[in-house]
Amino acid sequence: MRGAIGFCLILAVGFGSAFVAHADDDKGGKKKSDSAAPAKKESKGAAGAGKAAQKAESAKKADSTKGTEKSGTSGASQTGKPVSFIRDVAPILVENCIACHNPRKSESKYVMTNFTQLAKGGQQGEGITLEPGKPDESNLVELIRPNGKPRMPYKLDPLPPEKIATIERWVSEGAKYDGASPGEDWTVVLRKSQSVTIPAAYPATVPITALEFSPDGTTIAASGYHEITFWKTADGTLASRLTGLAERVYDIAFSPDGKWMATASGDPGVYGVAKLWRNEPGGCKPVRELAETQDVVFSVAFSPDNKKIATAGADRTIRIFEVETGKLLSQIEDHADWIFGVAWSPDGKRLASASRDKTAKVFDVEKKESLVTFPGHQQPVYTVSFTPDGKGIATGGEDNRIRVWNPDNDGKPIRDMGGFSGTVFKLRYAGDGKSLLACSGDKSIIVFSATGSQVRKLQGHNDWVYSLAISRDGKTVATGSWDGEVKLWNAADGKVIRGLIAAPGYKPPAAQTAGR
Ligand code: HEC
Repeated sequence: MRGAIGFCLILAVGFGSAFVAHADDDKGGKKKSDSAAPAKKESKGAAGAGKAAQKAESAKKADSTKGTEKSGTSGASQTGKPVSFIRDVAPILVENCIACHNPRKSESKYVMTNFTQLAKGGQQGEGITLEPGKPDESNLVELIRPNGKPRMPYKLDPLPPEKIATIERWVSEGAKYDGASPGEDWTVVLRKSQSVTIPAAYPATVPITALEFSPDGTTIAASGYHEITFWKTADGTLASRLTGLAERVYDIAFSPDGKWMATASGDPGVYGVAKLWRNEPGGCKPVRELAETQDVVFSVAFSPDNKKIATAGADRTIRIFEVETGKLLSQIEDHADWIFGVAWSPDGKRLASASRDKTAKVFDVEKKESLVTFPGHQQPVYTVSFTPDGKGIATGGEDNRIRVWNPDNDGKPIRDMGGFSGTVFKLRYAGDGKSLLACSGDKSIIVFSATGSQVRKLQGHNDWVYSLAISRDGKTVATGSWDGEVKLWNAADGKVIRGLIAAPGYKPPAAQTAGR
């Protein structure tokens, strides 16, 4: 059902800004003036930060009134079937309540995402919040009625009468929990019980937030809507689609030996998951879910020896898992804000991270301790990589610059490169270590030499260039932009090999493309 709502909004908002609108409608139109990445920034709103959350919530609600008409909610009240918490009530709470009543933000100390706490009440309503069989004595029902004091959802439009009726009826019928255990996070149960409809043909493009070449270079994997789409590098046609991901895909990585793939994805403000796949000849097969978090996972990285995988995201935590077993080896919480990127040192002993807290850090993997913090960007840091010799670290961020610094000498700067007039979203060294490529919000990609001089600028994207990949043979560069376009470039001369819109079945309306 969430999926359906997502696509309603995409249709309403249209070309290019598809997912921007989903969680923060008011920002969809003016992303250009915003210097940070909208996909990432907007998630803050949905994550429950005060006003932004309310706005996001009301935007969602405005839309979901239409979107849920077909769902079980009205179905149950019309057919006389008993009301189910998971099927009928939970979706109403997700859309209207939990942005303000969750473990991280619990207005009036009231957490609704766990049934035990939902039934118990918050600081005002302990013991009177839910009286099975007696809606009139249940504070929760009192507060959603039009004359509730204070009426919920707080300072937002009241719930439509049929939704209030569904909740009342559920209380009348005994206010039973029909998940597995009342202490569990039922939002997870709900999400798993809902099937997402991925359209055969996309009605709009999706921002290319993640790109990676398959190890053999025959396909390029791109972020889709709840899926990854694989495109043939030889002719740009669709090779295959891989579903089983959260709404947005933020990172795709293959292990150095090519046997594994990992993905980072999430529904902003709600859920995030890092997933491990086995890369088999017939396509990738899911192995297991690694970190499951309450906001998106932005980055995944395999250790050079293929044995470990690091994940990081909006929960400010770096986790390291053993690939074979899925065992959590360590968990590092040292950043004060979202972590956009993680990277291993070539010897696999250290891990570097890039964060919205305006720093990059280096950790000793064995000792699980922080070695150095680099504050030089003074703006959110989006991307990080060790130099191929392991002696330096390159970072890029919202200060529009790439800074190379020495992790063994207190983060002392080695060099710093400009040439961009927008955020540096991603940087990568070519396999031979002779060049560094970076892409930016100014729609360009710059190829730098190992010593930091600009070799060439790749131009031709019509929107933020958000993702970048280099084929393992070093011959081809792929870049992906916010408007859904993927371009393949010849690394040797910087010429475009081909461009494609990485949205299956999407037909660009001529007028819209011209309009941009
Ligand atoms: C925009 C934020 C927001 C949303 C959305 C919201 N609430 Fe609240 N809720 C609050 C605030 C703030 C309070 C405390 C109000 C007060 O005490 O003045 C509160 C208090 C409550 C309480 C009393 C808790 C206690 O102290 O025992 C209940 C019950 C409640 N909300 C239920 C709901 C329900 C049900 C929904 C969805 C239909 C909802 N809320 C949506 C902000 C919100």
